[in-house]
This record gives sequence, structure tokens and C-alpha cells, in this order.
Amino acid sequence: MAARIVAIANQKGGVGKTTTTLTLGHALAEAGKKVLIVDLDPQASLTLHTGLEVLGLEATITQALSAAVRGASARELQQVVEGAIRGTSIQGMDLLPANLDLSAIEVQLFAAFSRERVLSRVLGCVGERYEVILIDCPPALGLFTINALTAAQFLVVPVATDFLSLRGAQLLLEQSLPTVQAQLNPGLALLAILPTLHDERTNHGKAVLGELRRLYGEAVVMDPVKNTVRFKEAANAGVSVLGLLDEEGLRPYRMLAARVAAA
Ligand SMILES: Nc1ncnc2c1ncn2[C@@H]1O[C@H](COP(=O)(O)OP(=O)(O)OP(=O)(O)O)[C@@H](O)[C@H]1O
Ligand SMILES: [Mg+2]
Repeated sequence: MAARIVAIANQKGGVGKTTTTLTLGHALAEAGKKVLIVDLDPQASLTLHTGLEVLGLEATITQALSAAVRGASARELQQVVEGAIRGTSIQGMDLLPANLDLSAIEVQLFAAFSRERVLSRVLGCVGERYEVILIDCPPALGLFTINALTAAQFLVVPVATDFLSLRGAQLLLEQSLPTVQAQLNPGLALLAILPTLHDERTNHGKAVLGELRRLYGEAVVMDPVKNTVRFKEAANAGVSVLGLLDEEGLRPYRMLAARVAAA
């Protein structure tokens, strides 16, 4: 059976997309799933966060997208994609890394045949080898994110619980998502909104959380991930936060993993 593909997206920067991709991937791998995490951000944060040295990394998603753009045969494309995928320190979880050259590919994508479906072709080559593929999107609503939303069956939107982040999420959920569903990918479903960086001591945080639940419903809005310094410590150490938080702190990610596994 082909992998279920989940895009982790929000055009707002710094809301926890990369953290969510890595932590969710780790939680799913721990639950026995075969997982591929995909770095679709030219900042290569996900790749860095797994502890990989990005400079000098030659086989990456950049080469895979480039091969797909130039119309490589299915066999050649598969070789390029498989050559770029690496294992991580987490058993059961592989990474399709990015490097800084990825930013140059977005321009090539504009001129490509069926430019919104290039990532779909890339992931289609390895979809049989994984149960779940998680795509870490860049903080923009450009062609990379559109490619991710076109390749995926499910969307997870991390939203920091502050007012500007809420407005950014509304733009994604009320404009971009319906447009993609209508024109490119009718099968795309909003799986979860994950409130992040949540400070439950502030009225502001509580108000934004309440507004998210009112706008999008209790069912889709997950329990919030709290703001703790452990996340930055994990990023610094090149590990996922899974081993650094207690079960209470991890509950939102465990619940999200269960939701992805059951989708
Ligand atoms: N729950 C949290 N509490 C505290 N810090 C967090 C939390 N989640 C993420 N962070 C930190 O916030 C910063 C931004 O997180 P992250 O890189 O996951 O966001 P992003 O949405 O992927 O950012 P970008 O838009 O730049 O790709 C990182 O330093 C990360 O370690
Ligand atoms: Mg990121």
C-alpha cells in the first residue's frame, strides 16, 4: 500500500513546522511505522535538526526535484531519490534532506511541465517503501508549499497561539486550502491544527486558543504544545525533543501521531 502523505504547512515563520515534522516522525517511528521525513525548505532546518552537516551535502531533494523537472525516466528518478534518502539516528525513520541549493529549484519549477505535481512524482518513486511520509514546508505559500499540498492526502497546520499567527493560519485555511482542494487536489483533508508555543499563563494565549477552537472546531484543533526551552535544546543537540520531555509534555504529539496512524 502506498504511504499516506502528510504536509506540515503554515506560511507563517517560526510556528513549529520543522519541530512538528521531526517529533511526529519520531513518535510514529517509535510506534512501529516506517516513516520518511522530507525537508522541502531551502533553509534546510529539518536536515540540520537531525544532526546532518548540510554544507557539502550533494544528494538531496534538490537533485530529485531537478531530475523530475527535466523529465527523467521513472527508473532514473527513482535512483536519484533513493540515492538522496538517508537513515537517521531514529530507527524506522529516514530523511530526504535539503541543502541550500534548493532555493534555486523553485525558479526551475515555474517553467516545469505540470509544475504543481513535481514533488508528487518524486515521492511516488518511494511511496511503497513507507507507511507515512511527512513533508516539512517552508514559511511561504509559494510553489514548494503548493507542491506539498498537491502531493499530500492530509494537512497538519501548526499555529503559534498568538494573534498574528492566528491571522496567518486563517489565510492558509480559508483561502489557500480551498483553492488547492478545488483546483489541484480534491482529496486533501485538514487532519489537524496543532497549537504550538503555547503559554497558558497569558490571557492572550488562551484567547487565541479559544478562537482557534471556535473557528475550526474542537475536533480538528489538538491540545496545545507548551512553550518550553526543551525544544531549542533539542534543536541545538540535533535530536528530537521526544527524549527530553515528560509524557505530559509529549501528549499533544502522541495524540497527533495516533491521529495520523489512524487516518
Ligand atoms: N513548543 C515549543 N516551545 C518552545 N520553543 C519551540 C517550540 N516549538 C518549536 N520551538 C522553537 O521555535 C523555533 C521555531 O520552530 P521551528 O523551526 O519548528 O518552526 P518553523 O515553523 O519550522 O520555522 P520556519 O518557518 O523558519 O521553517 C525553533 O527554535 C524551535 O526549537
Ligand atoms: Mg521550518
